[in-house]
Parts: sequence; structure tokens; C-alpha cells
Amino acid sequence: MTEHKLVVGNWKMNLGISKARELAEKVVKLSSDLKQTEAWIAPVFTSLATVAEVTKGSSVKYGAQNVHWADSGAFTGEISPSMLQELGCSFAIVGHSERRHIFLETDELISKRAEGALKAGIGLIYCIGETLPVRENGQTNELLASQLEPLVKVVEETGVKDLVLAYEPVWAIGTGKVATIGEIEQAHSFIQEHWKNKTNLDCPLILYGGSVSPDNYAEIVALEQVGGALVGGASLVAEKFSTLLTISEQR
Ligand code: PGA
Repeated sequence: MTEHKLVVGNWKMNLGISKARELAEKVVKLSSDLKQTEAWIAPVFTSLATVAEVTKGSSVKYGAQNVHWADSGAFTGEISPSMLQELGCSFAIVGHSERRHIFLETDELISKRAEGALKAGIGLIYCIGETLPVRENGQTNELLASQLEPLVKVVEETGVKDLVLAYEPVWAIGTGKVATIGEIEQAHSFIQEHWKNKTNLDCPLILYGGSVSPDNYAEIVALEQVGGALVGGASLVAEKFSTLLTISEQR
């Protein structure tokens, strides 16, 4: 999807239209001089049109936090790929741990979302990551492989490679606990190797996500295997997001 480092703000269920406008305007300003980094943002659905307007003509890309696979129909609460396209979305986030664990989305459902988006020409940020018990039981690699499996099938079937992966250990999301550099390096390396073995394709960029902040990002983005960050909490504060972009540029 890009050769640049990414810093992606996942705004989650925050910032209605007027607050989204304010922050998006700041992100556009912050992004004007970036050389090797792209800033992407994922607002709530109702703020997408405003963000589209504010980011027009800038390098900032925006996308949705979810996507259904059908073009339209009786799917209360869902949004279709063509509706996101109409809004100019470049990507949709699929498989986020909050969708998996709070809304109990299965790998099967997630793979349908992924397929729908890719077939319609919407890029994907496809999230995977282990819970703490899985890590403590030494089953992280197995779990990551199983979460990648449906995506591998979708990529083989559709031939579409417009995607970015995000490794987000569930226990690090919104908790202030960051995975150690060794844990991040190990997980990203495993994902890269597994992807190459399974697909014979180059591995997409892999973002790290989970309590990324200005205090820890320099060390994380210094890792060769890290293609950027998927940022929740710190992406809602312009100063923090700005520092993350600066750190990414200095890498
Ligand atoms: P966090 O969220 O940065 O607040 O931990 C990351 C994410 O959920 O993508």
C-alpha cells in the first residue's frame, strides 16, 4: 500500500464531527512536511465526510474502523465497501481486538470483511494479536498463524495485496503496558516468515499497536521489522500524534 512508514490514528468511538474537524485540521498541518512517513486516520463513520473535506489535497489518508462485505442489504448497523468508497476511504480496519473480543467477531466473519473490502478496492489494515493467557502458555506464534490463515486465503483468492498488517498484543491495547522490544521483534519476524512461507509473496508492512506513545515509539520504530504504528489513545492528542510523526521521520 505504501513504501513509507505509517502512523495510523485509530480514533475508536471518539470525536464527533466538530472535534474530528479540529483534530483532522491539525493532522493535515503536521503532515505537510513529512518525507518518509504517512499519517492515516480512522474516525467514526459520522465524521468521515468531514475528515474527507478537511484532508482534501493533503497527504493524509483516512479510512473506516469497520466494513461489511455486501454492497447493500438488511445488515443493521453495518457499512458497505461501496459506501466507504463513495466517501473516499483508502482503507478499513478489520480484525481489531476490540471487534474480536468485545463484539465476538470470529476469524470467519473477519475474513468475509477482509474479502469484501479487498474485492471492492478498499485497502485493509488487518489486525492480529494474542491475549495474555495465550502468550503465557507459549502459544503466541500458533495463534498469530491461525489469525493470518483466513487472510492468506483471501489474498490467494482475490490476488489483491492492498493491505497492511497490524500486530497488536491484546494485553497491550489501552493498558499502558507495551510489549518489550524483544517481543515485538520476535512477533514481527514470525509474521514475516510465516507470510512468505504461506504465500510466496513479500510480506506487507507490519504496524505495531498497543499503548504506543511518544515515550516508547523511538525504540519500537527503530526495529527493522516495524513498518509503523497503529495508535489509539495517543492519536487523540495532537501534540502526542505530532511527536510520533517526528520520531518516525527521524528514524
Ligand atoms: P492504544 O490502542 O494505542 O490506545 O493502546 C491501539 C489500538 O487499539 O489500535
